[in-house]
Amino acid sequence: MDNTLINFASDNSSAVHPVVLERLSTVNSGAVSSYGNDIYTEEAIKRCKLEFGTGALALSVFNGTGANTIALDIMADKYSMVLVPAGSHLISDECGAPARATGCDIAIVTEEPRKLTPNDLLPFMQLKGNIHKSQPKIVAIAQLTERGEAYSLDELKALRDFCDEHHLFLYIDGARLANATVALGSTLSDAAFGADIFSLGGTKNGFMAVETLIIRNLRLAGVAPYIRKQLAQLASKMRYLSAQVLAMFEGELWRANAAHANKMMQLLYEGIKDVSGIAVERVPSGNMMFVNMPEKLAEHLLKTFYFYVEKISADSDCARFVTSWDTKVADVEHLIAELKASA
Ligand SMILES: Cc1ncc(COP(=O)(O)O)c(C=O)c1O
Repeated sequence: MDNTLINFASDNSSAVHPVVLERLSTVNSGAVSSYGNDIYTEEAIKRCKLEFGTGALALSVFNGTGANTIALDIMADKYSMVLVPAGSHLISDECGAPARATGCDIAIVTEEPRKLTPNDLLPFMQLKGNIHKSQPKIVAIAQLTERGEAYSLDELKALRDFCDEHHLFLYIDGARLANATVALGSTLSDAAFGADIFSLGGTKNGFMAVETLIIRNLRLAGVAPYIRKQLAQLASKMRYLSAQVLAMFEGELWRANAAHANKMMQLLYEGIKDVSGIAVERVPSGNMMFVNMPEKLAEHLLKTFYFYVEKISADSDCARFVTSWDTKVADVEHLIAELKASA
């Protein structure tokens, strides 16, 4: 990315919040035990238990692909099938890591990238007991979804009920769980309702590099630390991951960062929703929005702003805009003005 461009491409492109850097510096003296046997990790685990229940196991890792791969490997048998919606990060952006690590088939159960429902899953239940087929075992969704939608509590409950009825595990990729939580006005725990395992994303929400797997289903807890190690995601200098988890909960920084990002996206949406010649895919719930626009308009905007585009026809593109904890009101207003002037 040319850093003279204004970032609407990714919350991964944003800087680290200063509170996180301060917290990192407070743990940055002297020697402590490695691999998580330190006081900061102990404190971070306590904080996660306070948020998610005393039974929950919290394991921090470096990145989202690692979190997803570990979670699936904890739940999978070698002959399992993981059921995901189209557009799932697991299948589209992880270079096959989950499939390679678990040996599972990953089946895409919707035609469009949208929220998964029990009806999408039902036909796959016919595979159960058929020796020639991989066996459906895990449902994996993202909260927010990769198209910026938030599953409501009722939608999560319906998926949980389905999983109970059909003996499936539910995994929630929470790379943007904080944005979904703010969108729903819920707790972090409820935004991941029903998940046997979910990830609590930090990296996209102003943190340096941390995702924490929360293992709620205690039948899965015993193997989890070993699988994290096998999949090369056990940090020797764990105190630096744990310091970020502590910063997340101090003054609810996770909420403030996500609330700002979501607010900036609402501002952008309100500013462009009625512009003729473009079409917003859907009202954004969190910090991500997709907009269909003429290719020439996208090309023009890309001279000033950085965002991802996907070709949808010979002369039109779908632009993905993402806001972050550090998105400035003036930059959103600049984008709105430029888009209005050029549409
Ligand atoms: C839904 C989702 N899950 C996970 C990830 C994290 O992946 P990683 O940190 O490995 O790049 C991303 C990042 O883009 C994502 O959008």
